[in-house]
Amino acid sequence: MIPLLSVTGLAKSYQGVRAVDGVSFEMHANEIVGIIGPNGSGKSTTVDCITGFQTADAGDVRMEGAPLQALAAWQIARAGLMRTFQTVRVYEQLTLEENLLAAMAQFDATNWLDALFRTPRLRAADSSARARARTLINMAGLTRYHDAPVGILSYGQKKLVALISALMPKPRLVILDEPVAGVNPTRIREIEAALRLLRDEGETFLIIEHNMDFIMNLCDRVIVFDQGRKLTEGTPAAVHADARVLEAYLGVRP
Ligand SMILES: Nc1ncnc2c1ncn2[C@@H]1O[C@H](COP(=O)(O)OP(=O)(O)OP(=O)(O)O)[C@@H](O)[C@H]1O
Ligand SMILES: [Mg+2]
Repeated sequence: MIPLLSVTGLAKSYQGVRAVDGVSFEMHANEIVGIIGPNGSGKSTTVDCITGFQTADAGDVRMEGAPLQALAAWQIARAGLMRTFQTVRVYEQLTLEENLLAAMAQFDATNWLDALFRTPRLRAADSSARARARTLINMAGLTRYHDAPVGILSYGQKKLVALISALMPKPRLVILDEPVAGVNPTRIREIEAALRLLRDEGETFLIIEHNMDFIMNLCDRVIVFDQGRKLTEGTPAAVHADARVLEAYLGVRP
């Protein structure tokens, strides 16, 4: 079976620092895979290279066998790979609903003629996008902010906005860079449940997180990064029991 995502020999250096140093892994549809690793171990850079926000120095990235390297970030998104950023990126001036509709706009099959004449096709696309936005807003517990500018929300709430924006177009693969950093524990458990539900409906997630409980509860498989390389990968239990993982975090080197 062709993997949904395959990454082979990915490498990226910044001014002589090997941020990512030959990383390879695969993901299959319907999995929830975690990426953990100490600060600076190359997790975000790996995601930046996969999603076209950075150009890798070397390596091969494919989605269902089709190479992604030559594509721009927006083309990769359109191919069904959505992502969030470690530093939250939302449209502060737009309302919550508008943020979600904006995330959807690039996937809209309707064209400017539809927009000009307000055709039934546009109205149908519009109302289904609004309905999905409402569902996701409720899921994130942000119902009362539906029409509020996102700029007034707290940092944790903005993280939730970024998360549900990425989910808007029903992507085939969603990569989340620290989705629950700064989010309160009750809400984290709710997000965990929501992601599990979305997975049951067919979604696939790759999640970078420092929150170990979140990763260990949620993921089918965990990939551990250390110094730009994949240290190991396995079930949450296997990774948890691996002495090398603890060493990487404590900075103890043999
Ligand atoms: N745009 C950049 N310019 C220069 N160096 C960078 C850049 N982005 C990342 N790096 C360097 O690459 C290395 C890996 O960084 P990266 O952000 O991928 O780590 P990370 O595993 O996501 O860490 P964290 O858990 O702190 O988010 C670090 O040494 C970092 O300083
Ligand atoms: Mg990072």
